Amino acid sequence: MMMMEWKWLRFIRMAVMLLVLEGCRWCTTDACLEHERIALLHLKPFFNYQNQLQSWVEVKGSDCCKWERVECNTTTSRLIQLSLNSSRWFYTTDNRNLNAWYLNTSMFLPFEELKSLYLSGNAISGNLENEGFGKLSSTLSNLEILDLSYNYLNDSILLSLSELSSLRYLDLSSNKFEGSGHQRGFQLLSRLNNLETLDLSGNSLKNNILFHMRNLSSLKTLRLGGNELKGRLDHIQGLNNLTNLKYLDLSWNRIESISNKDGTQLRLTNLEELDLSGNLFRNNTISFPQGLSSLKSLTLSNNDLQGSLDTKGLSNLTNLKKLNLGGDQIESFQSFKDGGRKLELTHLEELNLAGNHFNTSVFASLKKLSNLKSLSIWDNGLKGSIDMKDLETFINLRELDMKGNELKDLVIHQGII
Ligand SMILES: *[C@@H]1O[C@H](CO)[C@@H](O)[C@H](O)[C@H]1NC(C)=O
Ligand SMILES: *[C@@H]1O[C@H](CO)[C@@H](O)[C@H](O)[C@H]1NC(C)=O
Ligand SMILES: *[C@@H]1O[C@H](CO)[C@@H](O)[C@H](O)[C@H]1NC(C)=O
Ligand SMILES: *[C@@H]1O[C@H](CO)[C@@H](O)[C@H](O)[C@H]1NC(C)=O
Ligand SMILES: *[C@@H]1O[C@H](CO)[C@@H](O)[C@H](O)[C@H]1NC(C)=O
Ligand SMILES: *[C@@H]1O[C@H](CO)[C@@H](O)[C@H](O)[C@H]1NC(C)=O
Ligand SMILES: *[C@@H]1O[C@H](CO)[C@@H](O)[C@H](O)[C@H]1NC(C)=O
Ligand SMILES: *[C@@H]1O[C@H](CO)[C@@H](O)[C@H](O)[C@H]1NC(C)=O
Ligand SMILES: *[C@@H]1O[C@H](CO)[C@@H](O)[C@H](O)[C@H]1NC(C)=O
Repeated sequence: MMMMEWKWLRFIRMAVMLLVLEGCRWCTTDACLEHERIALLHLKPFFNYQNQLQSWVEVKGSDCCKWERVECNTTTSRLIQLSLNSSRWFYTTDNRNLNAWYLNTSMFLPFEELKSLYLSGNAISGNLENEGFGKLSSTLSNLEILDLSYNYLNDSILLSLSELSSLRYLDLSSNKFEGSGHQRGFQLLSRLNNLETLDLSGNSLKNNILFHMRNLSSLKTLRLGGNELKGRLDHIQGLNNLTNLKYLDLSWNRIESISNKDGTQLRLTNLEELDLSGNLFRNNTISFPQGLSSLKSLTLSNNDLQGSLDTKGLSNLTNLKKLNLGGDQIESFQSFKDGGRKLELTHLEELNLAGNHFNTSVFASLKKLSNLKSLSIWDNGLKGSIDMKDLETFINLRELDMKGNELKDLVIHQGII
């Protein structure tokens, strides 16, 4: 009798221990929701290039919050981020839309608390009929980040995208947007009144895109690098309407001037960074208006600046901290303002003059830059020796890069002072 009871007790104890060790698959609460797990499994065949989604298994009770490329809210165990970038075979050596396909956006509907969706590099050409991004707008009301870069999307997707009013960050770079195909296409984006970052670089947009940006007043960052903007920016007023803009990238276009024919100039009083590298600015076309009084960083590298550069054109940028003039053909600085030849940007901390044709007289023209921390002047025409006296003004200098010159009697080649 006693023996029987003891055996029973042992059996019960083992059963309890097994439950504890195996984990209670039926009663657990921190695994992901079953319908989100099943929705992920429906997505898997579309994004499983090279079997990257190995951890997405068809096992009932498997916690999909622990699957690769999935992130959940730790409290609610609901999906908040899905990183399906580069998950499909995508081949781009020529202009054909190889492996192009159409997305069924409704497949994301179960992820009601999704905040970030990364779909870049997947050869997506658009959406299936009646299955556009607009379908997500009422259900995925927390969606803030959408990355659709490196796909084959064109202007026809804009109508459905413009319904995702919760978006704060939208990356449409390296697609096939033209800005002309669909009437009002880009203007529709102005319905996204929470949008802070818009990346349109690497498309085929023309000057009129600036006009279509004019209602996106919440924008803080706008990237338009590597498009087909050219000459004088005739629709510059559209940019000037973006009064909250802090960062503007217009690099690698064919822009010659940031003012238009009737004299309207770029006027963005909150702008802090402007990238104009890889354009066609010449020494007589750079002139910056007072309207850029907050500008801290200006990149003018790889333009057509050559010979003697009139620094007067930069003198309105009184708060500038970083100036990049690398990869041009500038020989010297010239200023008609004080009859001298000095660059008068007293707040400047970083100056890049690499890959130009400066000679050792350049140091004399930088004498007013007493706050300079970093000076890069590698690969120029510096020859012979440098008078150490010329460097005395730079009391805050931490980095001096003079590689690739023909300096002889040299005290410091490069490095930290
Ligand atoms: C997770 O969800 C809770 C409850 O909805 C919310 O308060 C919290 O901010 C969320 N955390 C994250 C990181 O989203
Ligand atoms: C996907 O995007 C995320 C977020 O930008 C990034 O951290 C991750 O490295 C990317 N993964 C791949 C495979 O590109
Ligand atoms: C898109 O996906 C949803 C949800 O999986 C499905 O109900 C619908 O039939 C699909 N639409 C098309 C056109 O395949
Ligand atoms: C834009 O994309 C849609 C959907 O893929 C396609 O039907 C249309 O032909 C494309 N338009 C252009 C101008 O390429
Ligand atoms: C953009 O703003 C202009 C001027 O305020 C207005 O007339 C126009 O309707 C707006 N466009 C859109 C698409 O909201
Ligand atoms: C853009 O600026 C112009 C000139 O200041 C103004 O007339 C126009 O209403 C503005 N448009 C928007 C959409 O803010
Ligand atoms: C400085 O800005 C004012 C007002 O925009 C302009 O008239 C002047 O030409 C600018 N100066 C230079 C040197 O560009
Ligand atoms: C602009 O560059 C040209 C060509 O190198 C040069 O001849 C001219 O002196 C420069 N103009 C100014 C104002 O420095
Ligand atoms: C340096 O270049 C300037 C402008 O090109 C020239 O006037 C000057 O003679 C040169 N100085 C030396 C030492 O070569």
